[in-house]
Amino acid sequence: MTLEEKLGQLTQLGAGQPEFSAAVGLVGSVLYTTGAAETNELQRATLAKSRLEIPILFGFDVIHGYRTIFPIPLAMASTWDPALGELAAHIAATEARAAGIRWTFAPMVDIARDPRWGRIAEGAGEDPFLGAAMAAAYVRGFQGNDLSAPDSVLACAKHYAAYGAAEGGRDYGPVEMSEATLREVYLPPFHAAVDAGTGTLMAAFNSLNRVPATANRHLLDDILRREWKFRGFVVSDYAGVTEMIDHGIAATPQEAARKAITAGLDMAMWDNSFATLAQEVRAGRLPESVVDQAVRRVLRAKFRVGLFADPYTDETRAAAVTLTKEHRDAARRIAQRSMILLKNEGALLPLPKSGKTIAVVGPFADSKADMLGPWSGSGKPEETVSVMEGIRSVTAVSQAMESADLIVAVLGEEREISGEAASRASLDLPDDQQRLLQSLIASGKPVVLVVMSGRPLTISWAAEHVAAIVQAWFLGSEGGNAIADVLFGTINPSGKLPVTVPRTVGQVPIYYAHLPSGRPANPGDKYTNKYADTPIGPLYPFGFGLSYTRFEYSNLKLSAPSMTMNDRLTVSAEIRNAGNRAGEEIVQFYINDPVASVSRPVKELKGFQRVALAPGEVKRVEFTVTRQQLEFWSDRGWLAEPGRFNIWIGPNSVDGLQGSFELLH
Ligand code: GLC
Repeated sequence: MTLEEKLGQLTQLGAGQPEFSAAVGLVGSVLYTTGAAETNELQRATLAKSRLEIPILFGFDVIHGYRTIFPIPLAMASTWDPALGELAAHIAATEARAAGIRWTFAPMVDIARDPRWGRIAEGAGEDPFLGAAMAAAYVRGFQGNDLSAPDSVLACAKHYAAYGAAEGGRDYGPVEMSEATLREVYLPPFHAAVDAGTGTLMAAFNSLNRVPATANRHLLDDILRREWKFRGFVVSDYAGVTEMIDHGIAATPQEAARKAITAGLDMAMWDNSFATLAQEVRAGRLPESVVDQAVRRVLRAKFRVGLFADPYTDETRAAAVTLTKEHRDAARRIAQRSMILLKNEGALLPLPKSGKTIAVVGPFADSKADMLGPWSGSGKPEETVSVMEGIRSVTAVSQAMESADLIVAVLGEEREISGEAASRASLDLPDDQQRLLQSLIASGKPVVLVVMSGRPLTISWAAEHVAAIVQAWFLGSEGGNAIADVLFGTINPSGKLPVTVPRTVGQVPIYYAHLPSGRPANPGDKYTNKYADTPIGPLYPFGFGLSYTRFEYSNLKLSAPSMTMNDRLTVSAEIRNAGNRAGEEIVQFYINDPVASVSRPVKELKGFQRVALAPGEVKRVEFTVTRQQLEFWSDRGWLAEPGRFNIWIGPNSVDGLQGSFELLH
């Protein structure tokens, strides 16, 4: 390969970019071109001009579905069911592959503890244990067991790393944090994605401790290559290489490109900066071996996805595998389990399917586009079921509030202010929606609030005045049907919060796994870790979610009072369905290390299980404790220290049965 041919393989452009036409035959990857016919046409043009006939790798953002759109990842995380994430990713891969896409820029696995950041919508929330489980599941779903199969695409764990910790929750902002926080909170989902075999990662826009992730050797080489033994390739985010000029660590695209590739970045997205490296190599400022290493990684991926064996896509396949009934049914089932019942005073829910006149009101009552959420691939509003349509499929709906017996209000945020470049300084409902809600409550009629949003909203007034509240996120193609299934009781809601819901934005950052204070928050003591003008704690805690039935926890048991470092013990409890209808409970397991050589978080999730229970049924749920779950990051690496550990098995991060055990040497 010539140097220019090598550098072309390390460049990803959009077919609409001005420099693209001159690069056809050289450029190695194209983003945003979709469709079997469209990608085949571009592939033919490329192979006709490429001296070595190296095929193009087509990439696209298939984040939560391609044409069948699933709940946004934050909603998917609310199911606490990695198998559902894997199923959704597999269906998305099947549909995307039939459209000529071989590489998805997903899963997005950024931990987010700040809901002002719009991209909290795209990940699995605030917890590294839940986030790691979902990350691995998505990689398995996207990639399957054979990357060249017609239902597989190359995955891309993004955005590496710590993008969710942007200062102030302002997208693209700088990130500074300790190595311990990086290792314990923000890296585990990436490590899980690498261990699950992701073929690629995407470098984040942000700087981490003053070095942009795009050229951060600690991330790209020390950790990713040397520790985790990652053998795939890393692509920058959109123009991330040239943006290092704005980060202030390069004066020219050439310098930026050299710093990036030297640190371990393999491909530049949406800019031609890597083409300038030819001069760097010829001037002796960049060893060609560094270029060769990146090219090998990219070509290895192209071989793995089967591009050299068959660079084209069967143009007859898409019709048979896209937006099928089976895919829609899966989307509906996942959406049903993504909803969280936050309040249900007087058992207002489930609603009767007849005998009552229901009004469905609010800006999102009949919105199809918003139901898709941000990053909705090639999903089409006209192929999406709105709340109004879903409810109408069950019962008659009155448009006039006056004649209604009860009201369903669909409020929240439009999808345009969720996702990328959608940071918000307020998490309240917009004034007009708040006024509408207050007028509905003033009517004296029973009101059910359905919240459509890509982040937790500070719905404190609603929490006090509205009888029933369902957090519905953005649920995708079958969202309206799934919401009706829950509102009318066809499905008993089972979702639990993957993020903390603040009372007010002033509390942010607020998350359950916080470090202790020397003066723990105490409402009766002024001089403690709290605000003078706001009650202590969140509106709704991490892991919280109600059901139409009741679950009781009892009989906590430990298999032993202690364990040695290389031993293990089991912790279990009985869960009983104390209500009169079947339901599924997400049982959670937390630990705390009350005394260590450093402060440890007050609680950390280390296990969860969904358990289905018939009325009156009792099941014992068991978790295994090993040394790995007890470790923390120290200046000597991962370390477990002997001593007492507290444990909880419960329904959320606040309630539950508590026990303890001794970790011995
Ligand atoms: C965007 C996003 C990234 C996406 C890429 C390509 O700016 O940050 O998540 O994959 O560009 O669309």
